[in-house]
Amino acid sequence: MNQDELKALVGRAAIEYVTPGSIVGVGTGSTANCFIDELAKIKDRIAGAVSSSAKSTERLRAHGITVLDSASVERLPIYVDGADEIDHRGHMIKGGGAALTREKIVADLADRFICIADESKLVDVLGKFPLPVEIIPMAAAQLIRRFAAMGGTARLREGVVTDNGQAILDVTGLSITDPLASEAEINQWPGVVTVGIFARHKAQVCLLGTSAGVKTLTF
Ligand code: 5RP
Repeated sequence: MNQDELKALVGRAAIEYVTPGSIVGVGTGSTANCFIDELAKIKDRIAGAVSSSAKSTERLRAHGITVLDSASVERLPIYVDGADEIDHRGHMIKGGGAALTREKIVADLADRFICIADESKLVDVLGKFPLPVEIIPMAAAQLIRRFAAMGGTARLREGVVTDNGQAILDVTGLSITDPLASEAEINQWPGVVTVGIFARHKAQVCLLGTSAGVKTLTF
């Protein structure tokens, strides 16, 4: 199976976690798109979705799925999303699609984060994938210096403006051995909107697409 087939496989598998009549938290990216397409098949059995990006909202609506404002929802049973990397404890790097802030906001509403990913995303230590950080553009130069001081090389993602009107830094050269501590530290730097380390909002379940089928990891 190629990567797209593995993404489709886990998108389908995540439907098992959807409670009939519930509102579903929906992520962003090519794997989340596979889930959205599967969700469309059971749209009459759910109350709607809370979306993590303009792109996912557009896809959900194109399928005729009701998209609810996150402000109108107190709890979601599940949030389903992809990841750029996931470690063996359920910590993730996210934000390759620049939607990390809204992804974390919707994940925060959910009882369980169901990560859907092909097997290439499973790593021992986070950091090979450039760490996305949503920032306020005014702070770019000083944040680039801060990442350099911790051994990373941060570059502004050219031509990208997030759904929140902000910018993205991609940071290479980091080995994130303590994701909880790194998330807490980077998040409090002035100018950082959200760091793409999902440790406080880690996955409880990962549906990993492998050539032998879906492997379920629980954390
Ligand atoms: C978007 C994300 C995505 O979940 C992540 O980039 C994985 O994307 P894909 O499923 O396309 O590989 O965090 O901001």
